[in-house]
Amino acid sequence: TNQEANNIVWHEAAITKKERQKKNEHRSAILWFTGLSGAGKSTLANALEQELFKRGLSSYILDGDNVRHGLNKGLGFSDDDRKENIRRIGEVAKLFVDAGSIVCTAFISPFKEDRNNVRALVEEDEFIEIYVKASLETCESRDPKGLYKKARSGEISEFTGISSPYEEPDHPELTIDSDSLSVEQSVEKITLYLADRGII
Ligand code: PPS
Repeated sequence: TNQEANNIVWHEAAITKKERQKKNEHRSAILWFTGLSGAGKSTLANALEQELFKRGLSSYILDGDNVRHGLNKGLGFSDDDRKENIRRIGEVAKLFVDAGSIVCTAFISPFKEDRNNVRALVEEDEFIEIYVKASLETCESRDPKGLYKKARSGEISEFTGISSPYEEPDHPELTIDSDSLSVEQSVEKITLYLADRGII
C-alpha cells in the first residue's frame, strides 16, 4: 500500500571513503603546498593537478583565487585571519579526502601549528606537505604582483617574509627547490613520490 511505500527506508550504510577510493582506483590525499609568496606554489600545484587529471585521477585544487574570493572572503592577513583561513581550508581539504580525491592546496600557510592541525585531521599517510622553497631574495626579485615592493614601502603591512613571519616546515614530505628545478622536473619529482607511496 501507499502507507508501506512511505515507510521504505534505505539501509543506513553510508558510502565509505574506502568504497569511493575503490571506485576511483586510487587513494586520496591532501598535497599541501606551502611557501613564501612568489615561491611558485600555485604554478606548481596547478601543473601537478593537470598531470593528475590527465592520468584520469580524481583531483581538485584549492588556491587563493577560488578561496579568498569565496569561502574565505572577508579574511585578511593578520595572524588570526591567516589561522582561520588555513583552518577552513583544512576542513574543506578533509572533505575532498573523504570524497576520494587528491586535493592540492596552495597557500602560504606560514604557521607550523596551523599546518600540523590540518595534518592531524586526516590519516597519517594522507597529508603530504610540500615545501616550495625559494629564498626571499628570489621571491622578491620575481615579485609577479608587485606586492614585495609595496610591502617594502609600507603600503602593505604584515607581508609574509617582510613584516610577518614564515615558519619553515621541519619535516616536509617533499621539498621543491624552485630556484633550481623547472616546473616539469618538480612535477616529476612529486608524481614519483606519489607513485612510490602507492597513492597514484
Ligand atoms: S595565508 O598566509 O596562507 O593565509 O595566505 P594565502 O591565503 O595563501 O594568501 C596569500 C596571497 O595573498 C596575497 N597577499 C599577501 N600575502 C602575504 N602577506 C600579505 N600581507 C598579503 N596581502 C596580499 C599574495 O598575493 C599571496 O599570493 P601568493 O600566491 O602566495 O603569491
